[in-house]
Amino acid sequence: MKDRGSFGSKFGVILASAGSAVGLGNVWRFPTEVGNNGGAAFIIIYILCVVFVGVPVMVSEFVIGRHTHANTISAYSQLAPGTWWRLQGVSGVFVAFLILSYYIIISGWTFFYLTESAINSLSVSRDYSAYFNDFVSNPWEPVIYAAIVMLMVHVIIARGVQSGIEAFSKIFMPLLLVIIIVLVGCSFNMPGSSEGLRFLLQPDFSKVTPSVVLSAMGQAFFSLSLAMGCLCTYASYFGPDTKLVKTAVSVSVIDTCVAVLSGFIIFPAVFSVQGVEVNAGPGLVFITLPNVFIMAFHNVPVLGYIFSGLFYMLLLLAAVTSAMSLHESVTAYVHEVVHVSRRTASSIVSISCMLLGVTCSLSFGLWSDFTIFDMTIFDLFDFVASKILMPIGGLVICLFVGWYLDKKLVHDEITNQGTVPFRFFQSFIFLIRYVVPVAMTLIFVNELLFR
Ligand code: PFF
Repeated sequence: MKDRGSFGSKFGVILASAGSAVGLGNVWRFPTEVGNNGGAAFIIIYILCVVFVGVPVMVSEFVIGRHTHANTISAYSQLAPGTWWRLQGVSGVFVAFLILSYYIIISGWTFFYLTESAINSLSVSRDYSAYFNDFVSNPWEPVIYAAIVMLMVHVIIARGVQSGIEAFSKIFMPLLLVIIIVLVGCSFNMPGSSEGLRFLLQPDFSKVTPSVVLSAMGQAFFSLSLAMGCLCTYASYFGPDTKLVKTAVSVSVIDTCVAVLSGFIIFPAVFSVQGVEVNAGPGLVFITLPNVFIMAFHNVPVLGYIFSGLFYMLLLLAAVTSAMSLHESVTAYVHEVVHVSRRTASSIVSISCMLLGVTCSLSFGLWSDFTIFDMTIFDLFDFVASKILMPIGGLVICLFVGWYLDKKLVHDEITNQGTVPFRFFQSFIFLIRYVVPVAMTLIFVNELLFR
């Protein structure tokens, strides 16, 4: 395709890819997992998973995307014409579509909380559990907020790779990092916050079971946006001089730092308030934190106002940059294969995803009794996408790059045709041929048998 977009600078490449990786998974899911699974012990295991599993898979996706300069489905068709490998491309785009449909609903929740904190409504003492449940079970409100966030994502994607995705990431990713640093500073200064820090920094290995290791691996995969066609699609817009390994390492470092720093925001704040449970599950950011903000700042409410506003702004920015990459993965396919303009492709994706999103949203209220395999629609989508198709996708990507593709092609792509030295090529091949496939199989079996 001649008129494909491309990123304009290496800085843009890193910020856009990091934008995909840094998302609700970092600020919301990671601290919850840390709280449930032994604090620092979990963080150490998580980092090992990122290094030995996440980075190799990310480099593999970059190889596929940059070599073909095509959407994910066409990429597999080009590299392995007439074979079943194409199904991995189909699965990637399908998973991106599925995840976007529920991810956008949660993004809508964060937008609602941001607007509530902007009008100072989160400074009122009330039962935040009921408040949250009332909101998410309302048939209209969450859908309207999600639709507004989808509209923002839609406008960015329709503008194209350089003036949409890259331009937005260049402004808002640095802003996101500044917000995190400000919030960490505020959180450290809360009275009693040192207990939260101790919790984060003192590893409790007694809580580490094989299933904790597998959930660290699953979390690393989700957080790095792997196996959904997103990074493969972004890599298809990389220039010939983009260094793939360096980019993968930079993105993983940024993503992991943001996740750990989110823990540094949340735990000192939570521990500074008596009687709040640390492992409050997914309600942590929507139920526990509003209470924490009120209690911690009851003497200086204006600080609570600023803290909560910045926090939900952080969540929303993280959500939008990730949703952009999910959207782009599907839009690139529709644009290039169905041969419609980028704007039309983007509209098709936004509208159809929103329609599916409505069913996810209703599963918190009107349709909460409707279950399939004992799961609501929302849970089912999450289960199929991130627990089943994601590990299978990780496995297939590694088999494809490690065993199917010509090693010379992989080497040439990683080293930019021999111009960038890569001393660990053999270790990389070893990891994606043996280590990652075993890890992916274990995650998958664990999800299926012990869910
Ligand atoms: N990595 C994002 C997060 O941590 O929230 C979520 C995500 C984005 C997952 C894009 C998958 C993806 F392809």
